[in-house]
Amino acid sequence: MTETLPGCETVPGPGPGGGPVPLLETEGLTVRYRTGRRRSPFTAVHGVGLTVGRGETVALVGESGSGKSSVGNAVLGLTPVDSGRIRFDGEDITRADPRRRRALTAEIQAVFQDPYGSLNPVRTIGQSLVEPLLAHRRTGAGSSGSRGAGSPREQVAAALERVGLPADAADRYPAHFSGGQRQRIAIARALIVRPRLIVCDEPTSALDLSIQAQVINLLNELQRDLGVGYLFITHDLAIIRHVAHRVVVLYGGHIMETGSTEQVCDHPRHPYSRALLAAAPVPDPEEQARRRNSLADRTAAATPGGTALGCPFAPRCPHAAEPCRQTLPPLEHVDGGQLACLRYPEIAEPSAAPDADPDAARRPEGA
Ligand SMILES: Nc1ncnc2c1ncn2[C@@H]1O[C@H](COP(=O)(O)OP(=O)(O)O)[C@@H](O)[C@H]1O
Ligand code: SF4
Ligand SMILES: [Mg+2]
Repeated sequence: MTETLPGCETVPGPGPGGGPVPLLETEGLTVRYRTGRRRSPFTAVHGVGLTVGRGETVALVGESGSGKSSVGNAVLGLTPVDSGRIRFDGEDITRADPRRRRALTAEIQAVFQDPYGSLNPVRTIGQSLVEPLLAHRRTGAGSSGSRGAGSPREQVAAALERVGLPADAADRYPAHFSGGQRQRIAIARALIVRPRLIVCDEPTSALDLSIQAQVINLLNELQRDLGVGYLFITHDLAIIRHVAHRVVVLYGGHIMETGSTEQVCDHPRHPYSRALLAAAPVPDPEEQARRRNSLADRTAAATPGGTALGCPFAPRCPHAAEPCRQTLPPLEHVDGGQLACLRYPEIAEPSAAPDADPDAARRPEGA
């Protein structure tokens, strides 16, 4: 079970439940990179299908390199899609032209890990916030221009107030603010155009624990008030219980498991989800370091998605058997979620789950 984050709400409020109206849908999403060093293209995302409903938060979790940002960037139009589909509110935006993409930024916004990197240090906060507002008014993108009430300066003041900052913050520069305040500013800038979806890519990973809790509480509050949906990308499982209604677990660019947050956090079925949870934060820093290093060693030992055949997790899975190395497990519907594991439910019993010990994921079965 994941630890809770001090000062943070335990649940993000009631989820849309009972089949939320889809806002974002990806279907068979595949992202390939062609780099000089690699002769053949490298597939970072393999046929990912996920849905984010209106006003819903879906966490996309996995270790570093599992393809989370590639999915987020494809949705944002920052990374080309090799194959598959991305739909937003029913519209196919997979290959939206630049003009449509610019317009879509009124509907789909992003908050990244490093707010300092995304705020221009020589522009005041007011200048940075007013920029997207004016751009969308110029292009007439979405209905954001008309949705905002008052002059641009009033809207900037209102957005800052919304994220808990004083209106006079608009006249100051990014360097005058702490990391947590800068992330609030980045959220205000995303919100000012009234988007319906925000891709949050590790938005709290650079923040202290207490500040993380504040930013998460703020995101949840904004969702309750504004109905915005979040695709929440994180490697940190301690966070997801506080933000997400549903969870998608990614490994080597493949979906391993999906389900409600409660289901995935309390009763993970996939051996990879179990290993990830076993490596999630614990109160003892030494134990924490040991678990993290252990997981990092395993990552180094096996390249995710590197096998041409079979289950991508097989090189690290304590339950791997011969068929696992030959057949790619299909993603199947199981108990209201999805699972890609050839040996489920055979390995479902707690007694068959040695990976509660994070080191266990290193040992092949029978070793
Ligand atoms: N622009 C790129 N060019 C080549 N390879 C990339 C690029 N971006 C990401 N990758 C590779 O794709 C894989 C997935 O990366 P990424 O989506 O950033 O994962 P995550 O966000 O889960 O850490 C990694 O192996 C990474 O090195
Ligand atoms: S049991 Fe087999 S199919 Fe299931 S995760 Fe392990 S290696 Fe993959
Ligand atoms: Mg990333």
